[in-house]
Amino acid sequence: MYRSHTCGELRQEHAGQEVTLAGWVHRRRDHGPLIFVDLRDRYGITQVVFDSASPEVHAVAEESRSEYVIQIRGLVRSRPPEAHNPDLSTGDVEVVALSASVLNPARTTPFYIAKEGGEEESLRLKYRYLDLRRERMQRNMILRHRVVKFMRDFLDAQGFLEIETPILIKSTPEGARDYLVPSRVHPGEFYALPQSPQQLKQLLMVAGYDKYFQVARCFRDEDLRADRQPEFTQLDMEMSFVEQEDVIHLTEQLFTELCAAVVPHKRVPTPFRRLTYAEAMERYGSDKPDLRYDLELVNLGDLLASTPFNVFKGALESGGQVKGLRAPGCAGYSRKQIDELTDIARGSGVKGLAWAAIPADGGDVRSSFAKFLGEGELQAIIARLEGQPGDLLLIVADRPGLVATTLDKLRREIAERLKLADPNVLNFSWVVDFPLLEWNPDENRWDAVHHPFTAPQDEDLPLMTSDPGKVRAKAYDVVLNGYEVGGGSIRIHRRDVQQQLFDLLGISQETALSQFGHMLEAFEYGAPPHGGIAPGIDRIVMLLADESTIREVMAFPKTQQAADLMTNAPSEVDERQLRDLHIRLAK
Ligand code: AMO
Ligand code: AMP
Repeated sequence: MYRSHTCGELRQEHAGQEVTLAGWVHRRRDHGPLIFVDLRDRYGITQVVFDSASPEVHAVAEESRSEYVIQIRGLVRSRPPEAHNPDLSTGDVEVVALSASVLNPARTTPFYIAKEGGEEESLRLKYRYLDLRRERMQRNMILRHRVVKFMRDFLDAQGFLEIETPILIKSTPEGARDYLVPSRVHPGEFYALPQSPQQLKQLLMVAGYDKYFQVARCFRDEDLRADRQPEFTQLDMEMSFVEQEDVIHLTEQLFTELCAAVVPHKRVPTPFRRLTYAEAMERYGSDKPDLRYDLELVNLGDLLASTPFNVFKGALESGGQVKGLRAPGCAGYSRKQIDELTDIARGSGVKGLAWAAIPADGGDVRSSFAKFLGEGELQAIIARLEGQPGDLLLIVADRPGLVATTLDKLRREIAERLKLADPNVLNFSWVVDFPLLEWNPDENRWDAVHHPFTAPQDEDLPLMTSDPGKVRAKAYDVVLNGYEVGGGSIRIHRRDVQQQLFDLLGISQETALSQFGHMLEAFEYGAPPHGGIAPGIDRIVMLLADESTIREVMAFPKTQQAADLMTNAPSEVDERQLRDLHIRLAK
């Protein structure tokens, strides 16, 4: 028997018992005749005392170093009152070693396990198995386990079935590049790794499994960011005989109960706020606004219809916008601070940032652009933005898309500087009524905004032929604190509508049949109305754990360059393997 208890288990009531523990040497304090070892496993830390009165036992502690794996047999005793450690769950007791042995020594680790922080992330990723020993990662792994377990139990109780779908599939278009796997048996042919189980879950609906879910690994070869990995996990769900409202209701219940169970110290405002896509873009310049704070964007265009200021005039005349944002209490910003904001604006592609500072003491307004304005225009702008003494007003003029991205960035920057987002609030919201299609000028055709299986809204069906860009989709995103944590839609379940959409997307009948023939055919064998959603588990756990990248909540993540530093993947393979796969490299 290696151990009778874990290192997190012993309490006052165990005093007097003989126990066996095994674990890692977390810290070691050598007081000469007495050596104290903090013995660690994933359950906790127990203090073990090695007394020189038993020289053989004492020798084991003398020889041990950090991260040695040792086993001890000993007697549990209460610590004297002044030695109680309230920071440890086992802090009322210690174990006096009666015998001890080293199960395996350890080299000096490349970073301290007991002290976190300071080292490069690349070092943590190369030695991830050591990094995972640390408290922060353990906490995150345990939280992730509890989140996934809660999701499974919740859906099981609602009658859902968890069904696995294959990883080697035919490409499903979700907008990113596919990871391809060459076939040995079929020379020149490839599988794709799923970007999501989208088509398969719809086919399960045709098969009659009306409530499906899967903790599904998805693969997307796209540019990586803090909240994007090449492989990630979705809670993939699909239901038959549901409408948008049913999916939203169920998801909202899942998230509310999940948060209450795993992060009870956080506040979750309910019901979740709902914004249409158009409203989100208009008021926040983003389809995933952080709603923990206001800082709304305000349209100034109508006030400036006849402005002499070329920058504003030019933007408005060419169909653009002039919009502003009020940064409360920032009137005192220095030239340097304003330059930083201007750089952020320029970084997203606009030519400049117009600003006006209203002094707190009632003096004259400082501004970059007032001298170019017409009579009364500055006052009108200040009034529209509800500028108060002490405020800094930021204004951007350009094409609507650029104005939105720029002001969204500035809005988040100001909120960050003013610490407006309450870290103890989880502010979920729904963004609905997404457009079905967006124009792709490079390819000269329409692209699906969500994916090509998403249904158009019934009242917009006539627009499919007359004005496709105006068609709204039965699509919805769930947003949490400025992150898109899930997306879904009601699907097309009729062959003629699906074919009509493929036509709009510029997918020829021939391609549609070869790529999606199985879907079109399935729709002819009694496909029920259906829809679903896929929350991104990594992003949700990241936000519940107060982390700022999803790498911190994945056991073995990849770098921003999609590399695994621990195993050195991707790597070259030998000629023979390539030959088997009928592949020659173009060096
Ligand atoms: P979508 O593409 O919106 O929808 O993805 C759903 C959710 O998955 C998460 N996500 C990611 N997380 C980490 N790294 C990535 N690279 C990444 N890409 C996406 C996000 C996102 O909201 N099949 C549809 C769902 C459906 O219609 O039911 C789909 O995949 O949190
Ligand atoms: P300029 O004519 O470039 O000297 O700019 C005059 C003022 O207009 C400066 O305050 C600039 O910061 C501001 N400005 C320039 N381009 C824009 C823009 N696209 N949106 C808002 N303000 C701008």
